[in-house]
Amino acid sequence: MRVLSGTQPSDDFLHLGNYFGALRQQIELQDKYETLIFIADLHSMNTVRNAADRRRFTRAVALDYLACGLDPSRAIFFRQSDVPEVCELAWYLSTVTPMGLLERGHAYKDKVAQGQSADHGLFAYPVLQAADILLYRTDLVPVGRDQKQHIEMARDMAIHFNRDYDTDVLVIPEPQILDDVAVVPGTDGQKMSKSYGNSIPMFGSAKQVKKAVMGIVTDSTPVEDPKDTEAVVFKLWALFADEAERKAMFSRARAGGLGFGEVKQDLLTRLLDHFAPMRERRAQFEARPDDVESALLDGAQRARAIGGPVLEEVRRVVGFRAG
Ligand code: ADP
Ligand code: TRP
Repeated sequence: MRVLSGTQPSDDFLHLGNYFGALRQQIELQDKYETLIFIADLHSMNTVRNAADRRRFTRAVALDYLACGLDPSRAIFFRQSDVPEVCELAWYLSTVTPMGLLERGHAYKDKVAQGQSADHGLFAYPVLQAADILLYRTDLVPVGRDQKQHIEMARDMAIHFNRDYDTDVLVIPEPQILDDVAVVPGTDGQKMSKSYGNSIPMFGSAKQVKKAVMGIVTDSTPVEDPKDTEAVVFKLWALFADEAERKAMFSRARAGGLGFGEVKQDLLTRLLDHFAPMRERRAQFEARPDDVESALLDGAQRARAIGGPVLEEVRRVVGFRAG
């Protein structure tokens, strides 16, 4: 069984939503399956238009994954742009992709509605994503719920291609929706997202993390009154507590006398403790940029060893090679 997932480099740090909603589960898969994890730097071209930013964001994603336990000797970890085969396959797939399929894309419609310019790259984003998946004959794609439609599009493209060329060269992938952790809320209560300015960066400086935690919105219920255990601060706090701790905290909240300030302080301590060993590992990798670079290049070589022969077979099937 082969699994693959990708993350766009679009900021200096990943946030708690990325960690609990994606990274953690993706990394766990390295112990069970043949796992490919890549940094989607070609996709990031739709939003990041500055070379220095892209280099910095790409390095940050690499460090965040390594810090969180990705082991490049088990998982195949690479940069998307180091496997140029994916662009060639994307072209072949685009020739069998109905416009209507892309026009129905939620991500495209949402981004344009938010004011992003309607470039062809943004429109064709799902085609490149399908090429990422299909190039490696991926069986399973673990993603957040927001990506389900993209996996369904990849399935459609593979089915069209295989039917039109009367082949089974492309494997039809399955999505695995990572929803055992509900959507992580941001400091303002909406979904945590870098684009909403409401995120808590797990590896930000202690000062940045503290500022984000202290900025979590709370209502003005007086300390002595009972608290709503559905408040955002409790949801975030609960990510770092076990069942017994949650019970104890929530019964104190219902009884009254518990201030939100105390909950924030405890959340901050737990959060920093939780990520401390990973932060340490991140610093170690950060001090060895050449090792990180060679791990990524080695990953790309292993990825190409899988994708190269698949692409060669696709070229043969379409008639670019002797039958
Ligand atoms: P952002 O919303 O910050 O732009 P991305 O869309 O780049 O984040 O998300 C990368 C991965 O992290 C996706 O698989 C997504 O499902 C997951 N993710 C992002 N934000 C959250 C969140 N608030 N809760 C759970 N998972 C999230
Ligand atoms: N679109 C994904 C996201 O924004 C990133 C991605 C690109 C991806 N290619 C992929 C995820 C292939 C899974 C498989 O989160």
